[in-house]
Amino acid sequence: MSNPYARHNEESKANFDHVYDLPDPRGYFEALGSLDYLAPEHARRLFPVLLGEVRRGDGPDGILDLCCSYGVNAALLGHDLTLKDLYAHYASPELAGLSTEELLGADRPFYAELRHPSPPEVVGADSASNAVRYALRAGLLEAGFGEDFETSDPSEAFRKAVGNVGIVTVTGGVGYVWERTFDRVLKSVSEARPDGRAPWVATLPARLVDYDPLSALFSDHGLVTQKFAARTFPQRRFADAAEREHVLRELAKVGVNPAGKEEEGWYHADLYLSRPAEEASRVSVDELFGASGALDY
Ligand SMILES: C[S@@+](CC[C@H](N)C(=O)[O-])C[C@H]1O[C@@H](n2cnc3c(N)ncnc32)[C@H](O)[C@@H]1O
Repeated sequence: MSNPYARHNEESKANFDHVYDLPDPRGYFEALGSLDYLAPEHARRLFPVLLGEVRRGDGPDGILDLCCSYGVNAALLGHDLTLKDLYAHYASPELAGLSTEELLGADRPFYAELRHPSPPEVVGADSASNAVRYALRAGLLEAGFGEDFETSDPSEAFRKAVGNVGIVTVTGGVGYVWERTFDRVLKSVSEARPDGRAPWVATLPARLVDYDPLSALFSDHGLVTQKFAARTFPQRRFADAAEREHVLRELAKVGVNPAGKEEEGWYHADLYLSRPAEEASRVSVDELFGASGALDY
């Protein structure tokens, strides 16, 4: 099905494919850090609020992080770490000369020492199987799957592993993953959950993404989608003038005003939250974050 952001990826977006599936995360953090990529830092501040709200219900409270890469969101949500810490860690001269096995030998105790007493249970999935394997071996994921749900049905192992998922999260991945992935994932999760219900979905897509097709799909799964209205989230700097011009042209087409945001040289993302109707009507996404103080940064 039509996915304008994927076309955008192919045409003009800076291409990071060469760092998505390396044996370890150093190249990823170097490449994304060079453009001040920030999405997982927003996740670190925002998703615990959502998880707190999921826990107030009577369903399961595990996370399925789609496009989990090297376990970046799991690292930040379950450990005493910021994204800045991770950029510094993976750029440190002491780690630069290590083999992947040696890096794993350093990363396991690094994460273990910083782990929260009760970290959220995170299952990860990403088409980059080397990245997922690293996250698993570093101890960041409860379970991990190098699978591409745009092209294939989830494996039996995946379908068995997602029965405790209360919320599906995506940072930096909407557009790469689209209706086919979300449809397959929501089916897998609701079939695996003892209560048979669909999980919440929280994403931070760039503002040039037309979210309507996904909102419609989520609605078919019984979920109501709300966009957080109070602010947007700087995602990363544009790689060059061509990327900037392309994004500004695309935003003009969809009627989004880039003043003070993309015009300043940054992609901006919106926060979308999809939940069962009764939960969405109890407290809106604006109220949720308004009261939490999580946005004071
Ligand atoms: C910009 S990275 C974001 C990674 C991580 N969520 C973060 O914010 O740091 C995009 C990720 O999407 C993954 N990806 C691309 N196409 C995919 C697909 N069809 N299915 C699953 N993951 C995909 C890439 O392998 C990469 O790990």
